[in-house]
Amino acid sequence: MADEPGRGTDGSLEIGIERAHPARMYDYYLGGRTNFDPDREAAEAALAAFPTLRITAEENRGFLLRAVEHLARSGIRRFVDVGSGIPVAGRNTHDVAQAVRARARVLYVDNDPIVLAHAQALLTSGPRGRTAYLNADPRRPETIVEHPEFVRWVDSDEPVAMLLVAVLHFVADHQDPLDLLRRLTRRLPSGSRLVIAHVTGDYDPEGWAGLVRAYADAGITVRPRSRAEVAELLDGWDVEAPGVVPVSRWHPTAEPSAEPALVSCYGAVARKP
Ligand SMILES: C[S@@+](CC[C@H](N)C(=O)[O-])C[C@H]1O[C@@H](n2cnc3c(N)ncnc32)[C@H](O)[C@@H]1O
Repeated sequence: MADEPGRGTDGSLEIGIERAHPARMYDYYLGGRTNFDPDREAAEAALAAFPTLRITAEENRGFLLRAVEHLARSGIRRFVDVGSGIPVAGRNTHDVAQAVRARARVLYVDNDPIVLAHAQALLTSGPRGRTAYLNADPRRPETIVEHPEFVRWVDSDEPVAMLLVAVLHFVADHQDPLDLLRRLTRRLPSGSRLVIAHVTGDYDPEGWAGLVRAYADAGITVRPRSRAEVAELLDGWDVEAPGVVPVSRWHPTAEPSAEPALVSCYGAVARKP
């Protein structure tokens, strides 16, 4: 337990409220209350650089839920939600998956101690399904894929949906996001799906350069990627229609959907051959 993220050597939880954390900044954009002064200050600096960031967060979450609903309707029963974030009342992966498929099972994974502290809200499975929580860091894929809980989760030929939604842009180039993805998904059976969302500077390079600086000032690396770079992350996967598109344009339920430039985040669902 002592080597789990966010735990001290005595196993106690270290929330670290003295500096900004990505999960709590995202919670702030979404109008949540699980954030502290350093999170709000860093988030306001990011909003000053890219003023529609709240739209980005809202559209990103909407994409995540639409993708989960789509996959549950396509027959997927097992989900692994990596970088799941602070729970959002009634808008979590299991809420949507189990509304479609009562037996859906969701394994949540995050490395932020505040998410762990709130994990109880993610463990409110319907009686026929199941949810579980794993405190692990996606930058160390083996701590996830070799964990007994994960092994149990994918230990069959049944396809799994792995979500990495608004997570990979926190992985710098030198940390090799493509390699991380390969190691995370290696054990998934054929027919499994990968859901990713990733911020981009394609529409407003200056705004996003400012945002990157605001996060860097708070000690957080953000690496926006172009559409081609996001597509490269899905190398070897069959990307489902409509492809790598702005999240607001991924099977939108409302028309007109938010303008891509306001959102600046790509999303895609891909199938393992
Ligand atoms: C922006 S939130 C996204 C939450 C959720 N997936 C969604 O899209 O609604 C990013 C999440 O990734 C987690 N995370 C995992 N690894 C991270 C890393 N290396 N850097 C930053 N955040 C990371 C954070 O703790 C946070 O909960």
